[in-house]
Amino acid sequence: MAKDMNFLTPCSFVIFGATGNLATIKLLPALYNLEMANRLPTALHFVAIARKQWQQADWSTHVHDVLKGRFAEGFSEEIFQRFISRFSYLKGDLDNSQCYADLIEELGKPREGVACSNIIFYLALKPEQYIPVVQHLDEAGLNRPQNFHRIVVEKPFGTDLETAKLLNQRLHQSFDEENIYRIDHYLGKETVQNMLVFRFANTLIEPIWNRNYIDHVQITVAEDIGIGSRADYYDQAGALRDMLQNHLMQLLTVVAMEPPPSLDADAVRDEKVKVLRSIRPVPRRAVQARALRAQYADGVIDGEQVPGYQHEPGVENNSVTETFVAAKFYIDNWRWKGVPFYMRTGKRLAKSMTMIAIRFHDTPQQLFRETPLQVISPNWILLSIHPVESMQMEIHVKQPGLSMETRVTKLAASYRMDNEAPLDAYETLLLDVIEGDRTLFIRFDEVEMAWQVVDPIMKQWSQDQAYIPSYAAGSWGPEEANRLFDDDDQFWRNEI
Ligand code: BG6
Repeated sequence: MAKDMNFLTPCSFVIFGATGNLATIKLLPALYNLEMANRLPTALHFVAIARKQWQQADWSTHVHDVLKGRFAEGFSEEIFQRFISRFSYLKGDLDNSQCYADLIEELGKPREGVACSNIIFYLALKPEQYIPVVQHLDEAGLNRPQNFHRIVVEKPFGTDLETAKLLNQRLHQSFDEENIYRIDHYLGKETVQNMLVFRFANTLIEPIWNRNYIDHVQITVAEDIGIGSRADYYDQAGALRDMLQNHLMQLLTVVAMEPPPSLDADAVRDEKVKVLRSIRPVPRRAVQARALRAQYADGVIDGEQVPGYQHEPGVENNSVTETFVAAKFYIDNWRWKGVPFYMRTGKRLAKSMTMIAIRFHDTPQQLFRETPLQVISPNWILLSIHPVESMQMEIHVKQPGLSMETRVTKLAASYRMDNEAPLDAYETLLLDVIEGDRTLFIRFDEVEMAWQVVDPIMKQWSQDQAYIPSYAAGSWGPEEANRLFDDDDQFWRNEI
């Protein structure tokens, strides 16, 4: 809910890892956009912490370059001046307690005549730095709440069930749950939030949203990009940990959840957790039948030759890390019993596309059997999240003419009008952190249940390190992904 930001009490927003990839690509542009939209509270101050031996002026030049490069024509010097005046740059080594002493001193400086008692810590760091930084914050007393001290933790939250629990325990020793913000930026995407509206604000959808009408659900997050310079992280993670355990599982919960009693953070999250709890476990012996992995080989994307995963900088040439994963899950509850949820995600696929495709059952009677039409194909609802933001319903209509022939027509509801600018997920989420709205953040039981679902798959694959199938970069992944389908007439939807 929009608030008048001037009424909020003073707040310091500390960005750890301020010169890193996440801060540069996501946080700074999103915060700048919020500044431009006048959504940042007047008394909000940023402390940017990084190792670089920079002075304030170097930081300012850096931010200027980043934003100018990003927004080009849309960049405004005036907004930038307002934005940059909110920042202090602090050079520091996060492993050294001096850094935290310096931070305390910085935070103690009165801004606009008021000492700040609210702090947000944003860990834009490598996951292995989370626990040490929390430890230091604790030792320095920086976690002791006066008004609020919030901490924002990025995914991946742990590398498996055990490490996720450890990280959670450590966070809870220093911060209350209500001050922990676990980010999965997919929940900040407007089109993902729109799914809640689509499902729960339209009477005509709810009665058909179940196993009586739906044959299966597909969730695809395809990317045409490779791993870029992230080999360090990605080669340890792989597609299952990087995407399926979090982003795709979150999409699944939004598609499958029951209507919550209200839009309160916990009411929504309770329903999402129930979905995760109802997912039929994948026993180790069933992993082969229910999931598959693969890795991209050399190929061509947009007419350009691109290297295979093992030739990416920083990747060993015998790496068996998966860059593609497909899996089939069942949700054993009244609504979804027997409906397969097919999920797939991969890098260096034919194109970038995020889509939830819902296929309905065949009509009970093939009334058109004796006509040229013979068999009617089933209806689909396509919820497209990227690059197209729309909802399409595929239905049959008669073709004009003397014979009884039909064609598929699409009822399309585009999410955004031409004059409505897209919002980045981080803009929504950062504002929510500042305003203290946790609805779009992940509660630990969601993380835990999602790890529980994928854990047997990870364990099985980690024992099988000798070989990984490959797919050509620029393709739709391995042919083998078709073997997950329960029925011969099921197929992956690659187009909207
Ligand atoms: C990140 C993953 O969480 O999401 C990346 O670590 C992936 O590997 C990215 O590329 C995809 O996000 P989006 O918003 O571009 O679909």
